[in-house]
Amino acid sequence: MAKPPLSMRPTGWFQVAWSAEVGVGAVHRMTYFGRDLIAWRSEAGEVAVMDAYCEHLGAHLGFGGHVEGDRIVCPFHGWEWNREGRNVRVPYENHPNKGRRIRSYPVVERNESIWIWHDVDGRPPHFEIPDVFTGFDDGKSAADYFPAYPHSTLYRERLELHPQYIMENGVDFAHFKYVHKVPIIPTFTRQNFDKPVAYVDFTIAFDDTAAGEINSGVQAINAGLGAAVTKSWGMIDNRTLSAVTPVDDETSDVRFSVWIGRPSGAQRTDAAAKAQQLAQAVIAQFEADIHIWAHQRYSDPPGLSQKEFEGFKALRHWAAQFYPATR
Ligand code: FES
Ligand SMILES: [Fe+2]
Repeated sequence: MAKPPLSMRPTGWFQVAWSAEVGVGAVHRMTYFGRDLIAWRSEAGEVAVMDAYCEHLGAHLGFGGHVEGDRIVCPFHGWEWNREGRNVRVPYENHPNKGRRIRSYPVVERNESIWIWHDVDGRPPHFEIPDVFTGFDDGKSAADYFPAYPHSTLYRERLELHPQYIMENGVDFAHFKYVHKVPIIPTFTRQNFDKPVAYVDFTIAFDDTAAGEINSGVQAINAGLGAAVTKSWGMIDNRTLSAVTPVDDETSDVRFSVWIGRPSGAQRTDAAAKAQQLAQAVIAQFEADIHIWAHQRYSDPPGLSQKEFEGFKALRHWAAQFYPATR
C-alpha cells in the first residue's frame, strides 16, 4: 500500500477503547502510534493509559499484570506503578525506584469512550474533546439518548486510511449524493476552521424533499483529526461520534458510535430495539464512507472543482496544525 504523505503521528485526542471494554481491575492491551500500550482501571474507577512495558526489566504489563487499588502490579517481580507511571513500590526494597517512570498519557473518559492525548513532543493538551450531548448547547444530556455501546457502534481495525480523510468528508458536499445517495447536494451554512476545534454545519435531506424546502441538517464539531461529533436535526434524532486512531505508519482503527434519541411521551416497549435498528441505518451510511476511505490514495494537490476549492483549502490548512514538524 502507499504510505500516506501525511504524518500518522498527529497531535490530538484519540479514542483507544470504549469505556465498557476496560472494567474495574481490568488490564487492556492495545497498539497505537506504533507503541504497545495498556489501559487499566483502578479500583476507584479511574482509567490509566501507559506504555505496556515495565521500566524494571521490561515485562509486558498486559500479560499477567494486575490492579491493586490505584496501582498496577508487574507480574515479573511485583513492582507497583501508579496511573502517572511512577514507581511507588519495590516489594523487596525500602524505597520505590523514583528515577524510573513508564510513559503515561493524559486520559479523558467521555461519552462511553476512552481518549488519550497524543503529542510526539509530550506537550500537554491544548484543546478539549467536545461532549456529544452537551457540546451543542441545546439542553440535551446523555439521559435523552439510548446508550451507544455495544449495539450501536462500529469498530473496524487496522484499515489503511488516514484520520484526515474523515475530516475532509465534512466539507465534501458532492460525495453525499454519490456515497450517501441523498437526492440534493447539501448546502453548507457554517465552516469555521479558526481553532483546533472546528465547526461545520450543513442542511441535508435523505428523502426527496424539494430543494427549497429542506428542513433538516447536521452540525459537526471536529476536535483535531481524531474526533468528530455530530448532531442531526429535523430528522431521526441522533448523535454520532467518529474516531480514527493511527495504529502504526500505515493503518488506523476506526470507531463509530451512534446515540438515538429516546422518544418522549408514550414509551414504546420496543423502543430500545427500534433505536438499535435506526442506529444500524446510520452506521450503514458510515460504512459506505469507510469503503471509499479504506482504498483511497491521498491526492495532493487535489483536482478540485471551483465550488469545492474553498472548503478543502480551509480544511487542509486547519489540518496542518496537528502534524509534527518532523514526521
Ligand atoms: S520487570 Fe516488572 S517488576 Fe521486574
Ligand atoms: Fe460521508
